[in-house]
Amino acid sequence: LFSRLKYMSLGVLVLQTTSLVLTMRYSRTLQGEGPRYLASSAVVLAELLKILICLLLIFYDHSNFLVLNRVLKEEILNKPMETLKLAIPSGIYTLQNNLLYVALSNLDAATYQVTYQLKILTTALFSVSMLGKRLGLYQWLSLLILMTGIALVQWPSESLDGPAPTPLSAGSQLVGVIAVLIACFSSGFAGVYFEKILKGTKQSVWVRNIQLGLFGLVFGLMGVFVYDGERVRESGVFQGYNPLTWTVVALQALGGLVIAAVIKYADNILKGFATSLSIILSTLISYFWLVDFDPTRYTYAHTPTL
Ligand code: C5P
Repeated sequence: LFSRLKYMSLGVLVLQTTSLVLTMRYSRTLQGEGPRYLASSAVVLAELLKILICLLLIFYDHSNFLVLNRVLKEEILNKPMETLKLAIPSGIYTLQNNLLYVALSNLDAATYQVTYQLKILTTALFSVSMLGKRLGLYQWLSLLILMTGIALVQWPSESLDGPAPTPLSAGSQLVGVIAVLIACFSSGFAGVYFEKILKGTKQSVWVRNIQLGLFGLVFGLMGVFVYDGERVRESGVFQGYNPLTWTVVALQALGGLVIAAVIKYADNILKGFATSLSIILSTLISYFWLVDFDPTRYTYAHTPTL
């Protein structure tokens, strides 16, 4: 059963990553009338939705409100030190979740996806140093090949493709790449830290996720006020929201749940390689539906034809 859950969670993760990247990029670039939605508020809503689903899952386990209440009290309120431990990965994840919106507002989905694979390397390094994992020769070799691949994607390719018709500005590209690079480190560290907490103690993964989410909510709200406070006062938290935005929020919440399951049943390194499969899936989807995902033309601001 454990191994079935492992591969099932990895499979769902591939689908979730693929749809999240494509819809997120789409939602940031497809400009309708009125203001663009606030990414910081989307991060908070995703966190809220994730907590609600975790509460439902615990309730479903026991079918009893009293038990749910007791679990929350005993595991979260009465263990403040255990709960506080989650503040670290939560703060880092909140920063990362905001950075990824910055990245996808400035990079096309393909460059973003490939560059973000560098997180497999940072995850491996943190797994080795923090969890004492040992990697074999082939595993180090695959990491080396990965690094080479990323370097090649970042290599300017105008000379091969001819000049791009509507290139993104170099500055914007740089902002995007820096955002992804910071996210790679944060992803590696927070993921491994969460794995250490999850595998080192007995608490259920859903309780852990609620603890993580509660801090995420606090940090995320701070992000809304610091970063978008002015805009919220002008046009409200839900400015620019449309069904696509809600899809992104739901996919991001789903992602948090699936990732927690993957970290529990498999580990962070496997998670990295599974999400890299989503590059292939994204490429296939964009080939058939012509969405903005084209690994060969990396600096184009593609006009979606949907
Ligand atoms: O790219 P990466 O795999 O690091 O993304 C992890 C995502 O999963 C983040 O958005 C983080 O907020 C979320 N997450 C979560 N619950 C966990 C672990 C990660 O919501 N237990």
